[in-house]
Amino acid sequence: MWPALRAGSFEIMSERVKIKRVRVTDLKAMKRRGEKIAMLTAYDALLARLLDRAGIDILLVGDSVGMVLLGYETTIPVTLDAMIHHTRAVSRGVHRALVVADMPFLTYQTGALKALANAGRLIQEGGAHAVKIEGGKPVAKTVRRLVDAGIPVMGHLGLTPQAVNQLGGFRRQATTKEDADRLTADARALQDAGVFALVLESIPADLAKAVTAGLSIPVIGIGAGPHCDGQVLVTHDMLGLTGDAAPPFARKFAELENAIIDAVKNYAKEVRDGR
Ligand code: KIV
Repeated sequence: MWPALRAGSFEIMSERVKIKRVRVTDLKAMKRRGEKIAMLTAYDALLARLLDRAGIDILLVGDSVGMVLLGYETTIPVTLDAMIHHTRAVSRGVHRALVVADMPFLTYQTGALKALANAGRLIQEGGAHAVKIEGGKPVAKTVRRLVDAGIPVMGHLGLTPQAVNQLGGFRRQATTKEDADRLTADARALQDAGVFALVLESIPADLAKAVTAGLSIPVIGIGAGPHCDGQVLVTHDMLGLTGDAAPPFARKFAELENAIIDAVKNYAKEVRDGR
């Protein structure tokens, strides 16, 4: 296990290595250069450390922690205190990646000043570098308030899980022309309000392509096709740890669920055999 070290530098076999933090300005430059951005979720220091060492650019402390780790059916029960707890853990594990914390349900919809105070806690107490907010035009004023206070904000459109009860389930979004036009207008409103990047979740690939081409900020897709400026997945989905609960668009890059079950079965057998 690596020792806890100052951000910006760490030791490998007594060799001092300088690490340059990923900043929101770097992401815009990456879009200009046509370099794709790799983003994943993280909820704890252990996994955050591994993802950071693997070179992931953005670690999202998603409110998906509620479903992936805490056993809730939706992200709605996740509290601000829980998000601060997990964000603090992720921040402790990271030297390079930009840490973005989700603002949970009803911590930003009840007024810009309340949103500012809550975002401030994720930054000050959690150590996040930025926050993420779901929604379009209705949250644009709040986004502007946070950005004016120096808090970088990431937007999130398409399938916005905090609105699951209104959307009628975790289903693909913006499949009609009317909804696609609304999403395009929302994306423009968020850019105008000052978001530094935008997540598009579970929408048609051609719509994501058009939105990506029409904005100067980086667009990160999840279930939105290959044409975005970057991609994000829930880490536990792409590692094959969430079984049937993973959404159909979440490609698996490993099958750790079975690897863990096999390892634990072997352990239990050796214990029972008295070895
Ligand atoms: O909470 C989360 O993990 C997210 C990603 C799916 C984008 O918002």
